[in-house]
Amino acid sequence: MPNSSETRTILFTSCKGGVGKSTVCANLAMAMAALGQKILLIDCDFGNRCLDIIMGLSDDAVYDIGDAVLGRVSAEDAVIKDSRSSGIHFIAAPYNFENKLNKAAFTETVKSLAASGNYNYIFIDTPGGIGEPLEFAAGVADIAYIIVAPTTTAIRAAERTAVFLAEKGVPRQRLIVNKLSGRSIKKAKEEVLSFIDETSVKLIGVVPYDTEIISAGNAGKLVNEILSGNVSHAFENIAQRTMGKNCPLFQNIKKLKKLR
Ligand SMILES: Nc1ncnc2c1ncn2[C@@H]1O[C@H](COP(=O)(O)OP(=O)(O)OP(=O)(O)O)[C@@H](O)[C@H]1O
Ligand SMILES: [Mg+2]
Repeated sequence: MPNSSETRTILFTSCKGGVGKSTVCANLAMAMAALGQKILLIDCDFGNRCLDIIMGLSDDAVYDIGDAVLGRVSAEDAVIKDSRSSGIHFIAAPYNFENKLNKAAFTETVKSLAASGNYNYIFIDTPGGIGEPLEFAAGVADIAYIIVAPTTTAIRAAERTAVFLAEKGVPRQRLIVNKLSGRSIKKAKEEVLSFIDETSVKLIGVVPYDTEIISAGNAGKLVNEILSGNVSHAFENIAQRTMGKNCPLFQNIKKLKKLR
């Protein structure tokens, strides 16, 4: 295991952009914090950060992961504490990033945060595409959550991401189907089964398509402030499964939105 046994590092990824990696990473963190877990989120979308906006912490980021890796500040000095939840901690991505990061220094930084004993989980958000941030993050991940949206291109990208991660030493992978819509839960279940077949990755959860997620993301509000029961139950279900508890896939998810 790359980390101390106390802290698990989960990578949120897909080589396809816009499938909801950052949204799922941020909201799952809040759902897990509500269950008493301490989560450190690290935005690894170098040069194109946006997790701070989704988290509602864009005004609070003084230092970033680049500062920590380059040794300008200690890793813990780059951590922001979320005033809304004592379980949420965050390190922003560099806003403008021209320096090349050294993989060994990145690995050491994340490992020191994992070894601090301050966090139950480290969540790493990566940009779309198969590039250096993903490769760096793969080097410290215990498991990857591959986010897929229900489109043919996103499914192909998920399959490609799974192969890339296995080659980079992350064989433990789980699929999260995001933006799920449909006429009925029964049809959605059939669709989700077909995604598992196509990607050959085991499923850990589903998140319905919901416009409230979009407005919340723009306003820096997370699942604890989202009124839609469907959305909060979806993240709570994935949180329970992440913590190793059995929980039906669609537990408390009542209906899905029909998309035209
Ligand atoms: N379940 C959902 N229902 C509706 N909209 C969603 C859902 N999940 C994410 N979105 C929206 O999809 C858009 C892209 O989401 P997000 O930025 O999280 O994707 P990403 O995969 O991190 O993108 P990038 O590749 O640019 O990093 C955002 O507008 C977000 O609000
Ligand atoms: Mg993103």
